[in-house]
Amino acid sequence: MHRAFGLAEVPEFDPFLMLDDFSSGNSEDYAQGFPWHPHRGIETVTYMLSGEVAHVDSMGNKGVIGPNSLQWMTAGSGIIHQEMPNPKIEPITGFQLWVNLPKKEKMMQSRYQDVLPEQINTISLNGVKVKVIAGSWNNVVGSIRDLMINPLYLDVTLLDGATFECGLSESDTAFVYVFSGTAAIDPHLTPIIASSVALLSNGDTVKIYAPNGAVRFLLVAGKPLGEPIAWHGPIVMNTKEELKKAFAELNDGTFIK
Ligand code: CO
Repeated sequence: MHRAFGLAEVPEFDPFLMLDDFSSGNSEDYAQGFPWHPHRGIETVTYMLSGEVAHVDSMGNKGVIGPNSLQWMTAGSGIIHQEMPNPKIEPITGFQLWVNLPKKEKMMQSRYQDVLPEQINTISLNGVKVKVIAGSWNNVVGSIRDLMINPLYLDVTLLDGATFECGLSESDTAFVYVFSGTAAIDPHLTPIIASSVALLSNGDTVKIYAPNGAVRFLLVAGKPLGEPIAWHGPIVMNTKEELKKAFAELNDGTFIK
């Protein structure tokens, strides 16, 4: 698994905590999966391009996230779940983004939304193909509208030589994660190669080019929360006391509300 960011706490990415790219052509890499583990205080967005991930949770939900599908989960006060890639399908291509919850929503009720391939709005324009997962682009809105921080999340494919342009809110945190080809933001800057992430400086527009062949990337943006972070493993709260309480509740079986 490749962690694009979030190995250590990176406040520059606020309100985003982590992006995992679990793409692999070798099922031995992912056969182990992510057996039973808890989450509290965050939302996760799992986006699959190939392969399948089966999930089961403490609320009795059960399902499979298949190719070109998404699952958005609000852990809120707490869930315990299992996420298991199907080792019979190679390759697997998928991403999981962790989005922080605002302080006042940390203990909200857990919930899920599954998004099927046909529910993801896609637009193609001048060599630019955009799948709008959350937020909007060119007046096309995303399928996920209820993430608490209301981010922009686009999956963008550029044909060789194409240019993508997108308006952003000046004060938002925005990053680009390239997973195929090499993208360029500015001819004077280092190109962004596959499997690397670029945190954008503040501004109201971003332009991304494909100077050397087709490129595919995720563009994610959102308003920073600016709240203290207390993070241990799968639990992200605001204070050490809240973290301690979460782990004590896990031990004594009162974690699930
Ligand atoms: Co999980």
